[in-house]
Parts: sequence; C-alpha cells; structure tokens
Amino acid sequence: MTLLAPRDSPAEALLSDADFARIAEYSRREFGLFQQENKRQLLHSRLLRLLADLDCPDIATFLDRLESGVGGPEREALIPALTTNVTSFFREAHHFRQFSDGVLHPRLGDLRRGGRLRIWSAGCSEGQEPCSIAMTVLDLLPEAPRLNIRILATDIDAKILARARIGRYPVAEAQSIPATLRAAFSRPAGADHFALDERVTGMIRFAALNLVESWPLRGPFDAIFCRNVAIYFDKPTQARLWSRFAELLAPGGMLFIGHSERVSGPAAGLLSSAGITAYQLTSAAERTGS
Ligand SMILES: C[S@@+](CC[C@H](N)C(=O)[O-])C[C@H]1O[C@@H](n2cnc3c(N)ncnc32)[C@H](O)[C@@H]1O
Repeated sequence: MTLLAPRDSPAEALLSDADFARIAEYSRREFGLFQQENKRQLLHSRLLRLLADLDCPDIATFLDRLESGVGGPEREALIPALTTNVTSFFREAHHFRQFSDGVLHPRLGDLRRGGRLRIWSAGCSEGQEPCSIAMTVLDLLPEAPRLNIRILATDIDAKILARARIGRYPVAEAQSIPATLRAAFSRPAGADHFALDERVTGMIRFAALNLVESWPLRGPFDAIFCRNVAIYFDKPTQARLWSRFAELLAPGGMLFIGHSERVSGPAAGLLSSAGITAYQLTSAAERTGS
C-alpha cells in the first residue's frame, strides 16, 4: 500500500515498506544497485523531487510506470536518485602513478611506433576520472593525440554524461589536478569555471553503458578503471563484474578499483594483487604454475 506524498508537505510523507521493497528490487534487477535500508529517507526525498519533475501524482503510479516498462523518462530520472556521482580529479592519486609507471612507461617505445593502447573508465561520472587518465598519458606522451591511444568512458547516467562531454568544471575542482598539468591543460571558462584542453577531451569517447547489461565492447583493454561503482552492487553482481573485466583485459592488463572494494569470486584466481586496490591479469602459465 502506497502512502500518497502530499505535494505541500513532502517531509511528512513516508516511503512505505512495500514501496521501498519495490524500488529496491527494481534497482537491483535493472542496475545491479543494492539499496540500503539506512538510505531510505534520502531515497524518499529524491523520489519526491522526481514526482514533481515528472508530474507524477504519487509513488505508486511512478512504480507502476517503471515496472510496466512504459516509464522511459521515469527510468532515466530514477538512475541519479539511486546512485551517487561523487568524484574528483586524480582521486586516489596512487592509481595514476601506478598506471603511468606500470602500464604506460614500459610501452613508450611501442606506442610511439603506433602500438595500440585502450583504457576504459567504467562508471566515469562527470568525466574527472577519464580526464585524469588522459592528462597522465599526455604528461608522459605529449604526442598521444596522434597515436593509437583511446580512452573509453562510460556511465549509466545519460545526464551526467552530457555534462562530462562539455568538459567544463567549477574552479574549486582544479585544486586536485597537479599544478604542472593544470597549467598545461586547463584554461579559464567564465568567472568560476575552467575548461580542459582539446588534447585531453579529444582522447576520450563518452558512451552510455549499464554495467549489469551486455557490453558491446571488443577490448582488449590495457587498463580498466572501475572505482567506487561496484561498492553499490550486491556481492554476486560484483563477482560477475570482476570476471567480465578479467575477460576484457589484455595480457598483463591492469584493473583499478575503489578504495573500499575487493576483487572476489572466480576472478580472484585470474587477477593478482598489484598494489593498493590494483590488480593485474595473470598469464595462463602463471595460473597453471607451468
Ligand atoms: C561514485 S561515482 C564514481 C566515479 C569515479 N569512478 C570515481 O571513482 O571517482 C559512481 C558512478 O557509477 C555510475 N553507475 C552506477 N551504477 C551503474 C551501472 N549499473 N552501470 C554503469 N554505471 C553505473 C553512477 O552513475 C556514478 O556516476
């Protein structure tokens, strides 16, 4: 039974057990996202805002539209209500150093001769992560835009991808970009924003992708960054995700995950720990001990 959410006093309305269960089930089934009971109030206030934006009379109607499959706009609008997009440039900076030293550095000669490098930022939010990867590449290889190097950046949230494609950020966010890179690759854009250089944004292709659905990707990837995304998935979904990443990694390729995430399930036998929340695909020979 759904409690109606009175428009003029939303704070008084409650998300009933039944509605919470319906949302949680939809969230798990469609997006792999696990809804915690202690976030029920937050979810509720986000839903109330959605109802107003979508001109939907109540939560029950919203859920009916979603579950009947006719709720395209409802589905799109629900995604940001279920997730968090918190991110920053050079978040967990040690990963970018390790990527530079362990993935890029050994390949410099090969890449200059036209070798192929593919990197995937999965769950890229507003683009700070793939832009940090691109700046790390450019720092070591200024000629990267003319080489066979591409960064794929994907997220489930179409709205956030639209912002990512613009490549414009509040000036406060520039502080986490190392000063030399900031000087080389950013310029003021309006009074309180900055824009990233075309050399950075030109290396990145943004695309919508739900990590729990099929992936129209060929790979292989030399590095996959999927950080602070799987933490919102339940355990079986996480385990499947790690295995699917392992399948798409190039030999010796690296997987970087979030600070509170761990590779689990069958992929733990394929990916060996290579530093703090960093993993490397082990070779078949290493696996069989031959
Ligand atoms: C907390 S942000 C992490 C951003 C960045 N990776 C970082 O570590 O700073 C999580 C991102 O994962 C995305 N996300 C959540 N569920 C997803 C799914 N099923 N498929 C793809 N992206 C998803 C969200 O839209 C959000 O932008």
